[in-house]
Amino acid sequence: MKKVLFVASECVPFIKTGGLADVVGSLPKCFPKEEYDVRVVLPKYMCMKEEFKSQMQYITHFYMDLGWRSQYVGVLGLVYDGIQFYFVDNEYYFAGPKPYGNIYEDIEKFAFFSKAALSLLPTVGFQPDLIHCHDWQTGLVPVFLKACFYTDEFYSRMKTIMTIHNLKFQGVWDLKTVQNITGLPSYYFTPDKLEAYGDANYLKGGLVYADAITTVSDTYAEEIKTPFYGEHLDGLMNARANSLRGIVNGIDYDEYNPETDPFLAKNYSAKNFRKEKVKNKRALQEELGLEQDDKKFLVGIVSRLTDQKGFDLIAYMMDEMCQQDMQFVVLGTGEEKYENMFRHFAWKYSGKVSANIFYSEALSHKIYASCDAFLMPSLFEPCGLSQLMSLRYGTLPIVRETGGLKDTVIPYNEYEGTGTGFSFANYNAHEMFNTLKYAEYIYYQKKREWNKMVDRAMAADFSWTASAKKYAEMYDWMIG
Ligand code: ADP
Ligand code: GLC
Repeated sequence: MKKVLFVASECVPFIKTGGLADVVGSLPKCFPKEEYDVRVVLPKYMCMKEEFKSQMQYITHFYMDLGWRSQYVGVLGLVYDGIQFYFVDNEYYFAGPKPYGNIYEDIEKFAFFSKAALSLLPTVGFQPDLIHCHDWQTGLVPVFLKACFYTDEFYSRMKTIMTIHNLKFQGVWDLKTVQNITGLPSYYFTPDKLEAYGDANYLKGGLVYADAITTVSDTYAEEIKTPFYGEHLDGLMNARANSLRGIVNGIDYDEYNPETDPFLAKNYSAKNFRKEKVKNKRALQEELGLEQDDKKFLVGIVSRLTDQKGFDLIAYMMDEMCQQDMQFVVLGTGEEKYENMFRHFAWKYSGKVSANIFYSEALSHKIYASCDAFLMPSLFEPCGLSQLMSLRYGTLPIVRETGGLKDTVIPYNEYEGTGTGFSFANYNAHEMFNTLKYAEYIYYQKKREWNKMVDRAMAADFSWTASAKKYAEMYDWMIG
C-alpha cells in the first residue's frame, strides 16, 4: 500500500475560497483504494460549518516548538466520503472569520500549520511515503521536513511534491520575522533557499526543497518559466524545469452533474439539453429579476473579482457589452472596484444585468446550468475550474488563451465544425468584445452549429480519471 498525505489550507466541503479547495476535496477520492492510502491534513478553522466541526473526533494533543514558542497542537479526525481527514486545532491561529486574513498573521499561522502537519504523523500512526503540498501555505513543509525531521528514522524516507495552484501568492515577509517565527537556522535564509529579493518566501522554500514540482496545466507549466507569468520566480522555475510538470485539474463529476444536480430547476443530459436546459434559464431569469425571454443570449460569470480574472477588460467594455442583445449574470466577491462596477451596471441596465455580490454554491450551479455562455477572460489562469464546470453543463466558455483555459477549451472552427467554446489570444478589451460578439452571432444565427458545439462540450471528459492516473504514476515513480 502506498501512503500519501495531502497538506492544504482549504478543501471542499469543509472550507473553500477558490479552486484549490475543489481540487483537494476531489482528487484524493480518485486513487484506487487497494493501492493508495491517501489522507488529508487541514487546519481546523473556527469558521468551518458546525455540521462538520461537530463530526470531528478528538484524537490527541501535544505541544510543539515553533521558534521560541511552544504551541498547542490539537488533532481531530474525520472520515468523509471514504477519505481520512486530520484537522489541526489551535484557536489562537485558526479563530478568524475567514481562512486567510492579514498576511503577517497568515505567515505565522501557516508556519505553525506546516510544522504541525509533520509533527502529528507519529501520534496518529500514519507514515506517508510521500507528502503532497499545495500552494504557499504549505511551502514550509518540505523545508521543515529537511531542517527538523529528516534525522528521525520515522521521516527519513519521505518524499515531497509541491503543487503550484497560483504562483502569484507566495507568502512573503521579512527575513528576521520569519526566522524568529519558524526558528529555522539562518542557513536557510539565503537567495538559493528561502530568501527572494531580500525577503523570506514560503513558496520558494517549497519549490527549492520539494523533490518534484507540479502545476495545474501544461501551458501554465511553460508560462511560469517566462518573466510575464513567472512572478519573479521564473529563474527558479527554469532552474528546476526538469522536476516541473503540468497535470491539468479535473472536477468532481458526481458533484457537477446536470443529470442529478439538486440545485437545478430542471435536470438535463447530453441527450435532452435542447429541450430541457432552457427551463433553467427561465427559472434563473425569474429568480434574479431578468427579463423573461427563453431566446435571449445569457452570459454567466462566477468568479473571484480580481485582476487575475480579466475584470479590467470587462469594466472597460461593459457599457458596450450591455448595448448588445445579451443578458449578464454575475456571481462573485472580491475587489471593491469590481463589486461596485457590477452593482452599477445592474442598476443602469436593470432586467439585463444581474449582479450577485456574495458567495453561493447553489447559485453558482444554477448559473453554470442556465447560461448559454460563460465568460472568463483571465490575465493568467493556472488551470481554472469554472470553464470545466461550464463545459460539463453545456454552457460554452468564452476565454482568453492562457494557462488551463488554453488547454481545456477548444476554440470553435466553423469550417471544420470543431470546438467547445470561443477564445482570443491577446489581453485586449476589444479582442474580448469581438469574441463575445462572434459567440452571440453564432448563437442567434447558427443555432444548429451552436447546439452541436454544446454536444461536444458535454461529451468532453474533464473528470479526474486521466489526471489522477498521472499523479499516481508520478507517486509510483517517486516512491520507487
Ligand atoms: P480560482 O481558484 O482562481 O478562484 P477556479 O476556476 O479554479 O478559480 O475555481 C473557482 C471555484 O470557486 C469554482 O468552483 C467556482 O464555482 C467557485 N466560486 C468562485 N466564486 C464563487 C461565488 N461567489 N460563489 C460560489 N462559488 C464561487
Ligand atoms: C488557483 C488558480 C486556478 C486553479 C485553482 C485550482 O486558484 O487560480 O486557476 O484552477 O487554483 O488548481
